[in-house]
Amino acid sequence: MNEISSQVISSAAMRNDTRKANKRLTSLTNLPVATSNPPLAWDSAHGFAYPATPSDHPVWQLQTPSLILSPKQAVTNFKAIQQAFPYANVGYAMKSNPHPAILSALSRIDNAWFEVASKAEMEALKGLGVDGRRVFFSNPIKQMSHIKMAIEYGVRLFVFDSEAEVHKLAACAHLAGDEQLEVYVRMTVPHTGALWPLTHKFGVEARKAVSLLQLAQAHNLKPIGFAFHVGSQCTRPDTWAEALQTVAPAWKMAREAGIEVDMIDLGGGFPTRYTGPVPDASEVAAAVNAVLDECVPGVKRVFLEPGRGVCGSAGDMVLEVTGVADRPDGQTWLYVDGGFFSGLYEIPDGIRPAAQPIVREPRPFGMHTYRLAGPTCDSLDTLFEMRSPVELKLGDRIVLKSCGAYVYSVSSPFNGFDQPVVVTDDEWMIDMQQFAGIC
Ligand SMILES: Cc1ncc(COP(=O)(O)O)c(C=O)c1O
Repeated sequence: MNEISSQVISSAAMRNDTRKANKRLTSLTNLPVATSNPPLAWDSAHGFAYPATPSDHPVWQLQTPSLILSPKQAVTNFKAIQQAFPYANVGYAMKSNPHPAILSALSRIDNAWFEVASKAEMEALKGLGVDGRRVFFSNPIKQMSHIKMAIEYGVRLFVFDSEAEVHKLAACAHLAGDEQLEVYVRMTVPHTGALWPLTHKFGVEARKAVSLLQLAQAHNLKPIGFAFHVGSQCTRPDTWAEALQTVAPAWKMAREAGIEVDMIDLGGGFPTRYTGPVPDASEVAAAVNAVLDECVPGVKRVFLEPGRGVCGSAGDMVLEVTGVADRPDGQTWLYVDGGFFSGLYEIPDGIRPAAQPIVREPRPFGMHTYRLAGPTCDSLDTLFEMRSPVELKLGDRIVLKSCGAYVYSVSSPFNGFDQPVVVTDDEWMIDMQQFAGIC
């Protein structure tokens, strides 16, 4: 196949044919082909071929597995959420990607807040000069040493959802001097349309939420409102509205009980585009705006905690093909050097990145179905079925799109395999937009 001598078609007629072939590629893979994709190459003997990526392209120089981050994209995504919710304090859920390049880019945005769950996350923010007053501590169950550090750092906003947490917070409250710690209760809400529900581990119902706020008040903490999380990768804007409707009775009960709640935290859940369209932040805002005043009348502060919606599309992975095998199940398995334990652990739950094969020389175009799998010996380490428009071989590469969220922070060296090397698109002068993800 290496010997295929090919040339890029230049005549208008051929360009037209190329567009048609690209369309065919789209329908075969059922995914859009970006107009920025290189044109299909033409070979007189074999017809259209899958295009090569020249060997001097930086995508070949990267060590694999690599995660290429785009802090600029994270900033764009963050600002889009701020714009959609101009009345809200938007706090980046840094668990989704705490890489310093992403954090420092976001920390320079006007009125950027951060959501944290642990001491180490706060240390990272402190190191970047982020003011503790711009941080909310949204882990409902916190360790005492983390609460103490938070207060010393200047954090005054804490989520809770149990009596035990009230006692922990109250025991540390003196560290804030004359200031009161502001506390709000995590409620359990519907998660329809979320690929990664977060409702079972945390959250309480309305009546319990109000009695927790009363307990907090009795312990000299300042109860200010409620928080929820509709679940990660939530593709249904109405779910935020339904969550607000679930909070509404608690809001009313709290006010009737004399608790001056004035704050609602709408959590995260903003989706990233993987293999299909997703609503953008303004569609979520429209659903929220339609019910906000009715559900939480008199609300003065609105918080948001997006993670994936900020960094998901700000990172792509580059993997190399390290093995191919036909298995008794009739499937051809394609092994790559990054997988479940490299941080792609959400794939079995349906969060499946779009892929783009990268080859060094033009190859005949033709559909091949592969079962993609990671490098370790664990059978958990399988990824997804991939319909590739080209046959793949050892040494070829695959770009996985939108791996910016929950990959860097979760990857492990299990079985002795390298974790992804993290680079930024700027430092590598690589434009990952040209690999749109076609299968
Ligand atoms: C409390 C809290 N806030 C925000 C987030 C961010 O969620 P997402 O990445 O879906 O926006 C999470 C994710 O686990 C969370 O637990």
